[in-house]
Amino acid sequence: MNEVSRRAREIAGSPIRRMFNIAAAMEDVISFTVGEPDFVTPANIREAAVRSLERGETHYTANAGVPPLRQAIGSRLGSEYGLSWDPETEIIVTAGGMEALMLGMMVLIDPGDEVLISDPHWPNYPRQVLMCGGVPRFFTLREENGFVPYPDDLRKAVTAKTKLIVLNSPANPTGAVMDAETLQEIARLAIQKDLFVISDEVYRRFIYDGTQFSSISTMEGMTERTLVVDSFSKTYAMTGWRVGFAAGPRRVVENMVKYQENFVGCVNTQAQYGAIEALQGPQTALHEMIQTYAERRRMIVEGLNNIPKVSCGWPKGTFYCFANIRDAGMSSEDFTMRLLRETRVVAVPGSGFGAAGEGYVRLSYATSSKNITEGLSRLRRFTESLP
Ligand SMILES: Cc1ncc(COP(=O)(O)O)c(C=O)c1O
Repeated sequence: MNEVSRRAREIAGSPIRRMFNIAAAMEDVISFTVGEPDFVTPANIREAAVRSLERGETHYTANAGVPPLRQAIGSRLGSEYGLSWDPETEIIVTAGGMEALMLGMMVLIDPGDEVLISDPHWPNYPRQVLMCGGVPRFFTLREENGFVPYPDDLRKAVTAKTKLIVLNSPANPTGAVMDAETLQEIARLAIQKDLFVISDEVYRRFIYDGTQFSSISTMEGMTERTLVVDSFSKTYAMTGWRVGFAAGPRRVVENMVKYQENFVGCVNTQAQYGAIEALQGPQTALHEMIQTYAERRRMIVEGLNNIPKVSCGWPKGTFYCFANIRDAGMSSEDFTMRLLRETRVVAVPGSGFGAAGEGYVRLSYATSSKNITEGLSRLRRFTESLP
């Protein structure tokens, strides 16, 4: 007898975690796997959470989150997107961007509904779709186009069962940032085919070289069919706090709030007060972090392009680069496994992000410049040893 549901059995483990676990048993490892800032949350945010505890705010909050946080999110979005989502009915505070995505999908997907996801993609998306009884369908991203989708590839993937498109810009694992023109075309497709869009924008503050960030939610006719997902995790180095949010049409957000009541009730109260300070306090630490990532990005991309059998385009955003290792003449899984065993450097095989990720490895530069220098020199030793 197997009492575990078919749905649960369908969900694969994370390739990122797998590499992480193997590396954890080794010493002197340089890791490029981490998908989180290596900074501690800025002190003013930590202190705000402590003050909230000291005030005795130890109770449940509203399912949608404390009103001052929803208002702060609303005004931040208002100034940055030029849109007004009602903090009362159109904004929900969630346990990270992850829970915002999950709640959104639970509210939007009926069993059998198809959901368009890019390939490569952040591996949680298809798993979350499966957890909702949906069917993931993929459109391929190509390096020749900087891993920005060709709208035609999405158009071809649409069927009568398509319900939802998941977009991620800036994107994990490729670092691609979608331009306004591409988003405009995808918006036209969504409207024409009556599709809803979940736009995962958790990396939107990490953008380089003057690239402009655009959100599909701001395109004409899209505010009422887009759920914007964002998070404090990456922006303010708050991954362990588990606080994120979503903004979207009332009919969707109200139902997410209903689900929230049955999932976690509400996000941790102190984390919510910390998040208010993150939005309303000084932004100096954020700007310093962005600057540091920009310097590390230059260092790692230049370094990678000087290593035989490796090439890497400039990621426009995030803190990942997606390096092409096809010239090494082996699968990305073999490449990363040998790299780990022979030089104790961990990177994530591109195939872990979907079939189109084969031939690439993802390296996170949310690590010190000292690690980047040492990791790149080991990587060079490894590729130079290849025939
Ligand atoms: C693309 C993307 N979306 C969402 C998340 C969720 O992060 P969190 O739940 O910590 O906000 C991550 C985390 O790695 C991510 O890479």
